[in-house]
Amino acid sequence: MKHARLRRLCRHGTLTQLAVFEAVARHGSITRAAEEMCLAQPTVSLQMKKLAEGVGTPLLESGNRGLRLTDAGREVYAACEDVFGRLTQMQDRVGELKTRPPSTLRIAASATAKYIMPRLLGAFWQSNPGVKIVFDLMNRSRLITRLHSGADDFYVFSNPPEHMDVTLHTLTPNPLCVYARRDHPLALRRRIPLADIASQPFIMREAGSGTRLAAEQLFSERGLEPNVCIELASSEAVKQGLLDGLGGSLLSRHALGPDAAHSGLVELDVEGLPLRRHWYLAHSANRQLTPMEQTFVGHATRWSYAAASEIRLNA
Ligand code: PGA
Repeated sequence: MKHARLRRLCRHGTLTQLAVFEAVARHGSITRAAEEMCLAQPTVSLQMKKLAEGVGTPLLESGNRGLRLTDAGREVYAACEDVFGRLTQMQDRVGELKTRPPSTLRIAASATAKYIMPRLLGAFWQSNPGVKIVFDLMNRSRLITRLHSGADDFYVFSNPPEHMDVTLHTLTPNPLCVYARRDHPLALRRRIPLADIASQPFIMREAGSGTRLAAEQLFSERGLEPNVCIELASSEAVKQGLLDGLGGSLLSRHALGPDAAHSGLVELDVEGLPLRRHWYLAHSANRQLTPMEQTFVGHATRWSYAAASEIRLNA
């Protein structure tokens, strides 16, 4: 039905005929329209003849001061204004779309978040492929500096800053546990007092790390000081240090990955552990979220809720 109507309308003139007619009507002159459109006068006359034949009635008549529109011609001229106005608008919008960069989501996260965020972001991108995601990792203290600067849309912390005006959305649990190599002297013990962990060599994350802060708080709350044998600047380096038999260390359970049983490391059964932390998606409290950012928050919280059950099974 729609197509039949369109075919009938097309018989009333091609877009080119309408464009020529629009120029003739505007100038009231075939000569001036031909000049404007860089066409020969006979070509313009022929196009006008064909258009009138297609419509089935004359569109132009001679007047005192050149050509003037008939009633039908006025109707066709009004339609030309609508059609060409709309086409110009379409061209402008398409031009804008071509030059505008795709929506970008900038997220900065504390280093340990690398074990969960790519999966969360990948799932978001699959349902929002027009969004470009820029994801950066750094330790907690650099992340706080970044949050101050407002350079990103969102920040992912396990240990969010306390004295900043930020809105937090809770993501997945982030249990922190003490890990060591299978042959560690405490590997087979149950309900190990934290004092025994403090007396063994301990690998500490670098200054500024959120995991380090959690470890320091854990020991100091019980009046203990760990026997730090080495400081290492990433959880991957810590895992390697553990495998090399340097001692034990506090790590996010996420850092062991899904294949924890084959990692060569064991989780020590320490009294009061795991530390039950969470990941949080943070943004400055006074930022108005765009619709795309609101969609992202919804996705991140739903994804985390689903992922949380998986993590509890591994607990
Ligand atoms: P980290 O921090 O990766 O710097 O140890 C995790 C956190 O945000 O607490």
